[in-house]
Amino acid sequence: MRFAPGGAAARGKSIAMTQTQSGTPSLTELAQAAGLRMEEMDGHQREVGSPDLFERISHFQLADQARAAGLYPFFQPIEVNDGPEAIVDGKRVIMLGSNNYLGLTRHSDVLKAAHEALDRFGPSMTGSRLLNGTSPVHLELEEALADFLGAETAIVFSTGYLANLGAVSALIDRHGISVLDRDVHASIYDAAGLALGKYTRFQHNDPKHLDRVLSNLNPDQARLVLIDGAYSMGGDLAPLPELREVCRKHRTRMLVDDAHAIGTVGPKGRGTRSHFGLEEPDDLTIGTFSKTLASVGGFCAGPRTVIEYVRHFSRPMLFTAALPPASAAAALAALRVIDDELWRVKRVQELGERMRLGLSDLGFDVANSATPIIPIRVGDEVRTAAFWRDLLNNGVYTNAVIAPAVPRGQAILRTSYIATHTDEQLERALQIFGEAGRRNGVID
Ligand SMILES: Cc1ncc(COP(=O)(O)O)c(C=O)c1O
Repeated sequence: MRFAPGGAAARGKSIAMTQTQSGTPSLTELAQAAGLRMEEMDGHQREVGSPDLFERISHFQLADQARAAGLYPFFQPIEVNDGPEAIVDGKRVIMLGSNNYLGLTRHSDVLKAAHEALDRFGPSMTGSRLLNGTSPVHLELEEALADFLGAETAIVFSTGYLANLGAVSALIDRHGISVLDRDVHASIYDAAGLALGKYTRFQHNDPKHLDRVLSNLNPDQARLVLIDGAYSMGGDLAPLPELREVCRKHRTRMLVDDAHAIGTVGPKGRGTRSHFGLEEPDDLTIGTFSKTLASVGGFCAGPRTVIEYVRHFSRPMLFTAALPPASAAAALAALRVIDDELWRVKRVQELGERMRLGLSDLGFDVANSATPIIPIRVGDEVRTAAFWRDLLNNGVYTNAVIAPAVPRGQAILRTSYIATHTDEQLERALQIFGEAGRRNGVID
């Protein structure tokens, strides 16, 4: 039996309420008894044999079923977002589900810069960077990013997703190969898919396996190793020095996606390289403005000749509209605030440590987190959605992460922390985690 779609909201509500009353079945138990199957999130086309595309996907009912059960964790409207707190479903909640690591989305310098650029350039350049979309703010931001990372130069894309697509697809032609850490962000998988060459993978954070994979490649074949500096779901860091050494041995260049490490990792928030005290910049660094930098957009930094090539041969640069100058201006202001207010970097790192300890002490499995991203391993998808809902009902907003974002059966609750969270907010959150974790069988 499944939860029937429709007639949903009332039923979802009554189920959601039962678990806050003692002695009644938990949300997890109710959903499992009703046969809610999160596997359908894979969305494969099942009606093989039908030429009607709409028919082939009509089996996908899961979102409605999960909504009916009050367990749908996605596309949740956030009515107000102050940073450390937000308003969801008309209720104030502690925000542990954003990437606003330094709390800069509400910083006065960032807001002022965005407002001024909006007034000066309007909401859009209405064209691509190549022809009519480049403003002086884009150029200033590229210079500031290169300076921040100690790279020769940088190029700004409209999102971090496009930065990965753009850099990799420009560099890996039909004779080349992308070599991915298994756990890299989906945008790197998509980048390898867009590139004309082949791709292969190595075990997560395993330099020895990378060595074997590179040893087996044709020595004349151009290759690029692709890793995240800080992993977006596990919150763990890449062993950058060891991976670099292996790459050097094989004359192989490496691209490091430091989307989550900029502002959060390293003594001055310079990212993974600075955490390990490596002097030489990464071959290529990808970053995004949609996390610490409190905006939208992305970039690739590296040697001038390489970035010039990417600038002219990257279809995700050439054939999409430029990042609006207001977004570029916000990111530029945020980048400056990192240096002006280094206490934020220190504070978010301390909060990460404190919450890892607090959650572990409660009995949660926080995997190998070493950043302000702290996953809680749950495993079962339905239990994860039930835990998420219970936390939200009790005033804590987190992210439920299920396949395909993580492997099937390895669902996690992703939590992340902001430099401007108060101690009181996080103490309250820990108490709510403990209660909801016990109710949903995540901890004993
Ligand atoms: C590691 C990583 N790279 C790239 C991206 C894409 O960035 P953007 O949101 O700017 O498209 C993300 C976003 O989730 C990410 O986590």
